[in-house]
Amino acid sequence: MFFASDNWAGAHSKIAERLLAESGGFATAYGLSDLDQKVEAKFSEIFEREVAVFFVATGSAANSLSLASVQKPGGITFCHSEAHVAEDECGSPDFFSSARLATVKGAAGKIDPQALAAKIARFPQDAVHHGRAAAVTITQATEIGTVYSLDEIDAVAAVAKANGLPLHMDGARFANALVALGVSPAEMTWKRGVDILSFGGTKNGCWCAEAIVIFDPEQAKEMHFIRKRAAQLFSKSRFIAAQFDGYFQDGLWLDLARHSNGMADRLRAGIEKTRGARAAWPTISNEVFAIIPKSASKAAEDKGAKFYEWPISESQPDLVGDDETLIRLVTSFATTEADVANFLACLG
Ligand SMILES: Cc1ncc(COP(=O)(O)O)c(C=O)c1O
Repeated sequence: MFFASDNWAGAHSKIAERLLAESGGFATAYGLSDLDQKVEAKFSEIFEREVAVFFVATGSAANSLSLASVQKPGGITFCHSEAHVAEDECGSPDFFSSARLATVKGAAGKIDPQALAAKIARFPQDAVHHGRAAAVTITQATEIGTVYSLDEIDAVAAVAKANGLPLHMDGARFANALVALGVSPAEMTWKRGVDILSFGGTKNGCWCAEAIVIFDPEQAKEMHFIRKRAAQLFSKSRFIAAQFDGYFQDGLWLDLARHSNGMADRLRAGIEKTRGARAAWPTISNEVFAIIPKSASKAAEDKGAKFYEWPISESQPDLVGDDETLIRLVTSFATTEADVANFLACLG
């Protein structure tokens, strides 16, 4: 009953096999092997245009270096107030880009476009004392398991573009969002105005595979240096490529995300039917936030269930009662129907 995070799950066997198959022999190092180039071409195929791809080790590195690549002195990146870049990366985006984050509110974990426009207006390009607007970042799927619709991405992109700002997408759970919306990778990104993407594989069945995808290769020249200076250029980069090769083979990445989302649906449906428990808000990816009695949370933990109790957002102080708690349950490619049933049984 492992619902603490999708990165608690192991690696999918087909990805492990692909890595093993690649492990013998010799190949050019530092991202120049045939396999690296084959997988980079695969990214271009998937996104239906030529893209520049940079493999990195973690989602935080992908976000930080992406944002570093679009910075300017005194620059400010706008993100949602609960964004991973603001809450969970220990200031890494600020550190790598020598820039600041400014948070923007919005319901359901999504940036409110009007609030974004108002916040950006406080940092005009000649605001030498306050700093100047430099970039906007959104998370897809969001930190609270919701997903921006295409129209919602359009609305944020319109504000970014009206202010001449590049738009970054944190896609640590890109595949989960994609299959939830049932759209193509191109439709969810550059066709909406996304300029740069953190493409996650680790949470969805890879061992350790993340990529920065830059949709205009002309804009990618500096990234070679930014990544190397951040010590993220792998000598044996082909092993990240091998993971992505297995990930993309026969649509495995989408199948794994569909499974993961399906397990979350099942979990949510079961929670809704459990006396005293309820979903905190509608989620359509692989994270379920539930409000359950504290006694049920303890009982589940005592029976070995792994999950996190989640802090109550300042914007929803009355979300839970005194004897209740908010928990986050994350499913993955490795979650089974039995895991879900056992967890629901714990809740009673
Ligand atoms: C929304 C989001 N972005 C990025 C990350 C990447 O984090 P890490 O640096 O741990 O790979 C995570 C991981 O939890 C995440 O949830």
